[in-house]
Amino acid sequence: MDFRLTDEQELIRRTAREFAETRIAPIAAAIDQEERFPVETVRELGALGLMGMNLPPEYGGAGADFVSHAVAMEEISRGCAAHGVIMSVNNSLVCWPISAYGTDEQKRNYLPDLASGRKLGAFSLSEPGSGSDAAGLQTTAADDGDALVLNGTKAWVSNGGQADVYVVFVRTSKSHKHRGISCLLVERDTPGLTVGAKEKTMGIRASSTVQLSFADARVPKRCLLGVEGQGFEIAMKTLDGGRFGIAAQAVGVAQACLDEALAYAAERQAFDQPIGHFQAIRFMLADMATNIQAARWLTLHAAFCRDRNEPFTKWGSMAKLFASRTAVQCADANLQIHGGVGYTRDFAAERHYRDAKILEIYEGTSQIQHVVIADHLMHPSR
Ligand code: CAA
Repeated sequence: MDFRLTDEQELIRRTAREFAETRIAPIAAAIDQEERFPVETVRELGALGLMGMNLPPEYGGAGADFVSHAVAMEEISRGCAAHGVIMSVNNSLVCWPISAYGTDEQKRNYLPDLASGRKLGAFSLSEPGSGSDAAGLQTTAADDGDALVLNGTKAWVSNGGQADVYVVFVRTSKSHKHRGISCLLVERDTPGLTVGAKEKTMGIRASSTVQLSFADARVPKRCLLGVEGQGFEIAMKTLDGGRFGIAAQAVGVAQACLDEALAYAAERQAFDQPIGHFQAIRFMLADMATNIQAARWLTLHAAFCRDRNEPFTKWGSMAKLFASRTAVQCADANLQIHGGVGYTRDFAAERHYRDAKILEIYEGTSQIQHVVIADHLMHPSR
C-alpha cells in the first residue's frame, strides 16, 4: 500500500490549487452575492484540462485517473464550491456517460468541446415529482418514426442555465418502471425545449440550477445514449462516479473552513490572548482536521478502486455520506469560531455554511447513500 500521490497526481493537485487560489477564491464572494455564473473562469478550467479530466486525449481530454480527478475537485472546491459543482457535473455526469455509452459520432460531436470548456453540459434526471425515487420519472418520449417526442418537466438541473447539451432521462415505456427509462442527448436549441429561470438557491449561488420544460420537443433517435430502456442503468452508473466527485467537493469546502478557522483562531484576541489558546477552540479544530482527513481518505479510496476497475459504488456512497456531513459540521464550527462576524457577509464563513448544505442533498441525499450502503452490506455480491 502506498498513501502518497504519484508525481503526476501531485502536479495536478498543485496546478488546481494555484488556479483556485489565484483565479477562483478572489471572485468567490462576488459571484455568490451577484449570483453570477463564472463564464470566464469555467473556460479557463477547460483550458487547464479540468473539465474533461478522465477523457482520453483523442477526445480532447486530459487522460487523468480518478484519483487525480478527486484531488483536483477538492482543490477547486476549496477555492469556491460553485466552481466545484460546475466542474463535477461536466466531468462526471456529462463527459463520463457520453464516453462510456456514446457512439463514436456522439463522442466526436460533444466531447472535445465539453472537455475544452467551449461548451458546457448538464444532467437532467430529477423531476418536480421524482427526486430520490429516480425510477418514478414521468417525462415521456413517444415514438414518432426517426424521432422521439418529449413532453414533461425536469427539475434541479445543475449547470442547466448555461448548458449547451443536456443528458436527459425520459420514459419510453410506461409498463416497466426502471426498465422503461431511456437516456437522450438533447441540444439546448431543440424546438419545444424551454430553459427555466435560475433557481433562487441558499448556497452555490454562482452555479445555475433550472427547470427544463419539454412541449412536443422532437429529438432524433440518433441522440439516444446507449439503447432504449438502458437509461436507469446509465443514470445509476453515472451517479456512482458523480458521488465521489461530490465527496471531493465536500472535502474541499471542509478544508477551506478549517484553514479559515485556524487563521482566525490565531489572530482573534479574547481575554488577552488568541482564542486559539483556549481548549474549547482547539478541540473544535482537532475534530475538524480529523474528520477531514478521514473524509479525504474515504474519497481517495473510492477513486482508487475505480482506477483499478474494482466495484466502488458502496465506497463512493460512504465517501459522499461522510464527507458531506463533515463539510456541514466544519462549516458550522468555522462560523462558531468566528462568532458574530462569521454571521456577516464580510467573512467567507457564512457562504461556506450555505454552500455546505447542498452536499447532503444533491446526487443522492444522505438518506439515499444509507440505502445504497445498506443494500451492499445485505447483498455483498452487488
Ligand atoms: N449500478 C448499476 N446498476 C444499478 C445500480 C448501480 N449503482 N443501482 C441499481 N442498479 C440496478 C439494479 O441492479 C436493478 O437492476 P435490474 O434491472 O437487474 O433489477 C435496477 O437498477 C433497479 O435497482 P433498484 O431496485 O435498487 O432501484 P430503485 O428504484 O429502488 O432505486 C436508488 C435505487 C438507489 C434509490 C436510486 O433510485 C437512486 O440512486 N436515487 C437517488 C437519485 C439521485 O441520486 N438523484 C440525484 C439527481 S442528479 C443531481 O443531483 C445532479 C446535480 O444536481 C449535481
